[in-house]
Amino acid sequence: MGALTIDQTIAVIGAGTMGAGIAQIAAAAGHPTLLFDANPEAIERGIGQIDAGLKKQVARGKMSEAQRTALLANITPAHKLEELAEAALVIEAILEDLQVKQDLFAQLESLCGDKTILATNTSSLSVTAIAADLARPDNLVGMHFFNPAPVMKLVEVVSGVTTSPAAAQTLFDTAANWGKHPVFAKSTPGFIVNRVARPFYAEGLRLLEEGAADVATLDGIIREAGGFRMGPFELMDLIGHDVNYAVTSTVYAGFYYDQRFLPSLIQKELVDGGLYGRKSGRGFYDYREGAVKASATDASAAAAPDSIEITGELGIAEPLVDLWKQAGIRIKRTEGNGWIRIGHTRIALTDGRSATRRAAADHLSDTILFDLALDYSKATRIALAAGDNASPEALRQATGLFQALGKQVSVIADIPGMVVMRTVCTLANEAADAVFQQVCDVAGADPAMQSGVNYPLGPLAWAERIGLPRVQAVLENLLQAYGLDRYRVSQLLRRKVEGSNRFYD
Ligand code: NAI
Repeated sequence: MGALTIDQTIAVIGAGTMGAGIAQIAAAAGHPTLLFDANPEAIERGIGQIDAGLKKQVARGKMSEAQRTALLANITPAHKLEELAEAALVIEAILEDLQVKQDLFAQLESLCGDKTILATNTSSLSVTAIAADLARPDNLVGMHFFNPAPVMKLVEVVSGVTTSPAAAQTLFDTAANWGKHPVFAKSTPGFIVNRVARPFYAEGLRLLEEGAADVATLDGIIREAGGFRMGPFELMDLIGHDVNYAVTSTVYAGFYYDQRFLPSLIQKELVDGGLYGRKSGRGFYDYREGAVKASATDASAAAAPDSIEITGELGIAEPLVDLWKQAGIRIKRTEGNGWIRIGHTRIALTDGRSATRRAAADHLSDTILFDLALDYSKATRIALAAGDNASPEALRQATGLFQALGKQVSVIADIPGMVVMRTVCTLANEAADAVFQQVCDVAGADPAMQSGVNYPLGPLAWAERIGLPRVQAVLENLLQAYGLDRYRVSQLLRRKVEGSNRFYD
């Protein structure tokens, strides 16, 4: 069927946050665009919102005045649903309520011809359920944009059980023509992004609950070592805890209360207290006037060692060796299994066990672990954890070793899997499971997380960088440490490790 052509009319229903943005995208691509809302004032507000955004772009030199006028001229307010009858595609972005959406599509179906594709921007409802009472349920496709729609590249093209592949393909091709990054997804709770992203928040909340560190330090580690644009707490504050908690609860219920998606009591307390984050002035951080944003805690300065011994290979942390050489630290390499030694002190990358457990296993109390970084040369912060029986001197030596590279060190409590490693492994596990359960393919999962929520690297590609056997080991060690099903290893990840295969060939 191919993409819709720009002479074909696109209708958008609901002129709120999402609808206005979607209308702007269609109009910018050159389509005659109709914008309808049950509330006529909302249409005016929506067009006003679009124009305000365009004027800013003109002021910044990113758009000419002529382009702004042409784009606006493509948008026509519609005051009756009947006016949408001729549209080739109708995209609904109204209230997130199954019955209300079903009623709207039933009306549309009786107004529009067979060739009109109907799309829903629902973020949490089943596309199959929305189409349930339609005479032509094959015509209904999920078209899930992200906020702000004109900026965010990702569009999840969601198929329900009854959606026709041809209709989904047309929307995929059309979104690509609009400059978006479309990915196919199967209608399941959270689709791709809202499902795969759950551990980013959930692990942060667990780490906080377990006293790993304070919110600012955990955010600092995720940003400065993990390379994420925002830490989980500042991001939840931005999204709003009411919204974030509702998404988690919907996905949790949608998967029949699978413990993997268990919501957090800490977040529920914030929601119950009306502490929604930025929009209410307080969440994990205080945004009220005069409040100073808390920052990450840094370890005090410690002396760098003159020399270290490295036993075996450090795997993903291997680039550290050259950095230490460049910092003037003498390196002696010996056989072994990936430890850095300074006298009696030994330091290693976390494998999902606590430092205390590793120390006990090997009867070596001065055991210190360090966390994963996206890029050890660029990371400006590294997290360290000391075993319960490690001496203060051992921790000082490890601190000095990383400070010698100009990095800040955050000492966290001895929590299995630490912060970045635990977050990335659980994200990758969820992405693997989404692929395993046919929600999307590998080519969809990674780009979805990069263009939908700005992850610095797709979770599956990241898992390959870490090494799939280590990712599996981290998850298995977490599973053993906590006895919680949330860390069960995805069958697909397990199979890749067993067959020595990769997600990307
Ligand atoms: P909104 O509240 O900003 O706008 C909804 C608009 O729909 C309002 O102007 C309202 O007057 C209109 N409306 C309600 N019922 C209607 C009906 N029966 N017929 C015509 N117009 C009707 O909502 P928002 O945030 O734009 O969300 C819209 C949809 O997009 C929801 O399904 C939501 O789950 C989904 N979504 C929202 C995202 C977000 O970040 N806000 C992201 C992705 C999807």
